[in-house]
Amino acid sequence: MAPRDDMLSNLIAVEEEGDRLSASELLAVVAMMLVAGTDTTRNQLSNMIHTFAEQPQQWVLLRSRPELVARAVEEAIRWEPATEAVPRFVIEDIEIGGHAVPAGTMVLLMSMSANHDTVAMPGADRFDIEREVPAGWHLLTFGGGIHHCLGANLARLELTEALAELSARLPVLRLAGPAQPTPAGSPIRGYTTLPIAWS
Ligand code: HEM
Repeated sequence: MAPRDDMLSNLIAVEEEGDRLSASELLAVVAMMLVAGTDTTRNQLSNMIHTFAEQPQQWVLLRSRPELVARAVEEAIRWEPATEAVPRFVIEDIEIGGHAVPAGTMVLLMSMSANHDTVAMPGADRFDIEREVPAGWHLLTFGGGIHHCLGANLARLELTEALAELSARLPVLRLAGPAQPTPAGSPIRGYTTLPIAWS
């Protein structure tokens, strides 16, 4: 296929000091972008719709104040995130809460729990699209540090577009049957079935 003005063509053409990505490197990058870039965002969209279907008064509020849409996305990503934990390897012996954690241990940092921590943010146990987060508070859905999600702002943009459109068009949103979450332990949280109705 001839090169086009798209990401894959750019990746094939990329070159630094005569070095190009090999076929297996290309495949790895494309596979990562597909999983990291689409599975996450589409599952996050289903989580966001599920949250609003369960919180109809917040949907009504968003429809009456569409300028809240970006804040609503931020709150939905906090409330029902597509990722619940980020893995890390411990690089030196440490102690956490009285437990020895030797170097080399893989730990899962439960970012979803941290997002709901009422000590870190009073009222974190409520879904509130008008929320103003306190200074120093960090959303952990996209991880942190040098591995902080590369596509966080793209995901925010896509979700904001989707929510703006859906909230403008669907006056009343409700669950139309039992939602089926992805199986426990799935790396990305969403719904395999999410029947919704609107009027
Ligand atoms: C709502 C949607 C998304 C969520 C919840 C999400 C979540 C995450 C999380 C938790 C990490 C690991 C961060 C860490 O270890 O500290 C990550 C990494 C990453 N994400 Fe996302 N992500 C989303 C969308 C995207 C999109 C749209 C792209 C690309 C188009 C993307 C590309 C990446 C990449 C390349 C990494 C690896 C970064 C690194 O290790 O340096 N993500 N994401």
